[in-house]
Amino acid sequence: MKHLLTTQGMSKDDAILLLDTSAQMAATQSRENKKLPTLRGRTVVNLFYEDSTRTRISFETAAKRLSADVINFSAKGSSVSKGESLKDTALTLHAMGADAVVVRHSASGAAHQLAHAGWLDAGVLNAGDGMHQHPTQALLDAFTIRRHLVGNVGEDGRGTDTSVGADLAGLRIAIVGDVLHSRVARSNVYLLHTLGAEVTLVAPPTLVPVGVETWPCRVSYHLDETLEQWQPDAVMMLRVQRERMSGGSGSFFPSPMEYSRKFGFDARRLAVLPDHSIVMHPGPMNRGLEISAAAADHPRSVIVEQVANGVAVRMAALYLLLSGDTGTSTEKTSTEK
Ligand code: CP
Repeated sequence: MKHLLTTQGMSKDDAILLLDTSAQMAATQSRENKKLPTLRGRTVVNLFYEDSTRTRISFETAAKRLSADVINFSAKGSSVSKGESLKDTALTLHAMGADAVVVRHSASGAAHQLAHAGWLDAGVLNAGDGMHQHPTQALLDAFTIRRHLVGNVGEDGRGTDTSVGADLAGLRIAIVGDVLHSRVARSNVYLLHTLGAEVTLVAPPTLVPVGVETWPCRVSYHLDETLEQWQPDAVMMLRVQRERMSGGSGSFFPSPMEYSRKFGFDARRLAVLPDHSIVMHPGPMNRGLEISAAAADHPRSVIVEQVANGVAVRMAALYLLLSGDTGTSTEKTSTEK
């Protein structure tokens, strides 16, 4: 694998390889000594043009756990504020010998451009580009779903590695909320479909993107009906991205109160789901808007576990990109060999 840019077009073999490698990495993280020597001498640059808590910290943790040298670059406080272009920043990183660049950018396609413009000789990992893709988020979500709904859940309520090698065939996943602005939704729809799960998007009509009929999923405008009649195994709530609504790209639902009433997830809605179902959210959460505190903190919520799994998944992605281990897959896909 050379780059990890999108889940659209990712082969099932590559998806399973990433999840299985993540399980191996997760096993190392329960040890007292969590550090592996695997990427000693390699340099990983975290290039963040947009704010992040989970993704940035977990990529940094993942790289350090693999013994790589890590350079953190935030657009705030850099020469980007003086007008420096993505190209000139990339050339600077190239001059500094970056082996991998983890990039988050507000422009859809920025990660693809960085990977293919010829400015860098480094693996590029997309940490979220505009409203387009967030592939490692989808991978950590699939990893969490697989551990809970395919593997055996341990006495501590956490999923286990007994799901290694398995896909998600037969599982029903509802993705609910601001689909229009969500790179998490796009990445999850394609990855979960590739892994054999059925996906239903649930959103108000104003927050459903044009062209959604070409995505491999169903669309519903009614949350209660979907939960009661379809009985999903996992409900993934999406953050309402108010910061992306000011430019006229989408009008918010009539009011936050009405949005919460029709599309917010709470203990009452959780109660209609099967007992084994899980509640997910990529974070950061708007508590009280798309999810209530009672649902977010419920024993069937795996939101904190998603964050923890992000480290193992990003260790796997960095390892597969930088070690040259191509696993068993030979197809050229979105993870570009
Ligand atoms: N889920 C996610 O991408 O969170 P951050 O924006 O905090 O990285």
